[in-house]
Amino acid sequence: MIRHFLRDDDLTPAEQEQVLTMAPGTVGGKAVAVIFEKPSLRTRVSFEVGIAQLGGIPVIVDARSTHFGRGESMADAARALSRYVDAIVIRTFEDTRIAELADYATVPVINALTDGFHPCQLLADLMTVRQHLGSTAGKTLAYLGDGANNMANSYLLGGATAGMHVRIAAPTAFAPDPVIVSRAGEIAAATGGSVKVTVDPWEAVAGCDVVATDTWTSMGQEDDGIDRITPFLPYQINGALLKEVPNAIVLHCLPAHRGEEITDEVMDGPQSVVFDQTENRLHAQKALLSFLIGQ
Ligand code: CP
Repeated sequence: MIRHFLRDDDLTPAEQEQVLTMAPGTVGGKAVAVIFEKPSLRTRVSFEVGIAQLGGIPVIVDARSTHFGRGESMADAARALSRYVDAIVIRTFEDTRIAELADYATVPVINALTDGFHPCQLLADLMTVRQHLGSTAGKTLAYLGDGANNMANSYLLGGATAGMHVRIAAPTAFAPDPVIVSRAGEIAAATGGSVKVTVDPWEAVAGCDVVATDTWTSMGQEDDGIDRITPFLPYQINGALLKEVPNAIVLHCLPAHRGEEITDEVMDGPQSVVFDQTENRLHAQKALLSFLIGQ
């Protein structure tokens, strides 16, 4: 059976643990298409380098120079690409697009960020938590900011899968999708984790081990006319907030809008592990590719 990785709960807790702890193997000359319908720095470079380091052939595709932009269906693209490559990694918009690609592909499809989820980032984040705190199970992660974006969804599902206590603090208008919260709660009930949603950033952070945030304006939302600054100001990760949790580590998937969701003093301060987190994109994705298509 072909295994896809479209959202965080596509890996069971045991499989997630396996990916987070395995030494990457080889993909032995297999080709992997890595398609971008949105901009990227970290994802593009980490996949290209990682596939090459595994002995594979990375094929980077900028969707603007293909037929995606002029309406070729995901179904047709999936069937064509499956004749050339052994896996398809894609960054795209609506989750219905990657779902259609996966439905028609005859090779594994990996989500490199959609509007709904960023599961490869979550693997890197969980790897970083293990690196700095020894384990994920039983640790408390507080995510502050846009609770309705892909990182919040992935923290809910991926964090719960890892047995973490996931707290989301967001303004009411940017609260997480109740369907995702419910699914995360189901997973957490089986892994010993928990899920909490609040509007109070101080309540979320109290006693936590990990503080995480993401940009308040996700890709594609730049011109939607919604005020994405004022409602989020109480959720900024700054020095005053971190005084409450001097031993917590700080995550940001990057790119950051310094001075908005996170201050310079935090990004560049002693609690920040954001560049370890960035590096772990490479290691986590190599492990995921080894798990899905390795030999
Ligand atoms: N974190 C992340 O996905 O970065 P890029 O958008 O640069 O790929």
